[in-house]
Amino acid sequence: MQDPPSEVGCALDEIDTPALILDLDAFDRNVAKMASYAAFAGVGLRAHAKTHKSSAVARRQIAAGAVGQCVQKVGEAEALVSGGIRDVLVSNQVVAATKLDRLAALASQAQIGLCFDDPEQVIAASRAASRAGVVINGLVEIDVGMARCGVPPGRAGADLAKRIADAPGLRFEGLQAYHGRAQHLPAAPEREAAIRGAIRAVQQTQEALAAAGLSASTVSGAGTGTFRIEAESGVYTELQAGSYAFMDLEYAGISGPDGTPFAEFEHSLFVLSAVISVAGAGWCVVDAGLKSFSGEKGPPRVHGREGYEFLGMSDEHGKIAMLDTADPPRLGDKVMLIPGHCDPTINLHDWYVGVRSGVVHELWRIDARGASR
Ligand SMILES: Cc1ncc(COP(=O)(O)O)c(C=O)c1O
Repeated sequence: MQDPPSEVGCALDEIDTPALILDLDAFDRNVAKMASYAAFAGVGLRAHAKTHKSSAVARRQIAAGAVGQCVQKVGEAEALVSGGIRDVLVSNQVVAATKLDRLAALASQAQIGLCFDDPEQVIAASRAASRAGVVINGLVEIDVGMARCGVPPGRAGADLAKRIADAPGLRFEGLQAYHGRAQHLPAAPEREAAIRGAIRAVQQTQEALAAAGLSASTVSGAGTGTFRIEAESGVYTELQAGSYAFMDLEYAGISGPDGTPFAEFEHSLFVLSAVISVAGAGWCVVDAGLKSFSGEKGPPRVHGREGYEFLGMSDEHGKIAMLDTADPPRLGDKVMLIPGHCDPTINLHDWYVGVRSGVVHELWRIDARGASR
């Protein structure tokens, strides 16, 4: 891990590059907006740490009102628990005995939830929890339209819930009902239709649970693209949104309810790069490429410089066209880029450099960076 690219009190221009910049004012507004909306709607906010990968961010989300955090990986849960987070849901399947033992070890320090979609996984998790003498909260993941993990809604969900309820070391808590494919559907009515289907799938499963003498105290799901629909459904009890804190270009590309751009949240996350070459005719090159931001959802966008258009990237280089600009770049100039996709971009950095009014105020470790096991 590298040292931070800056010190507190430095000006933006003095930050070493490439660096991950967090506009703290915009970040605070995003965090507060989602937290107050969740409180208003009467649902819990269990913000997703797969996005931010940092116990420092998690602590701020919880201070603003989040009930806890979601993670996808045991390593992420370990980083959060050692950073003081006491309520973590693994919104994913964990199967290997070694991983389940690590998760069970965390359950003596924090409330730990885990998703299930297979009876064999129930047996393995029950053994791990029993070995450690702890209780893990089990959520049955139902496939509400994403076609990733999850049992079919209805009877299959209730059958698995019964196995969890009967397994030593496990407690049946509820349902995981996240519809990932709905989040980035471009038109709001398409997203709404997809989530209406998810809500029906949850209701069908709740009826099957009731017939089996069980009930789900938690129904967890939703992301940044659809959170209002789940929150207002009367069926979901928790929101798992993650990207809302940062707002990337992928989310900027979907529409709001009236067809206008999706403007729920502000861009707070940037990659700061520096111009390393102006030798080309009509373009310059910055020191940030695919090792500084992810490219799978498209290139980043240049922020705050008129006439600069990001052309393409290789591992260490970003090529930027200057289109008729009155602001030509000089060697060493700093260029801010808005990433296409926040999660994999953050996972490339060791530090958030938190900036207010052009001055570095905070340096936060990305302590779950690379925690993929
Ligand atoms: C299970 C789960 N919940 C929540 C989220 C958060 O979604 P978003 O970052 O779009 O808010 C994700 C993202 O992929 C996810 O996989």
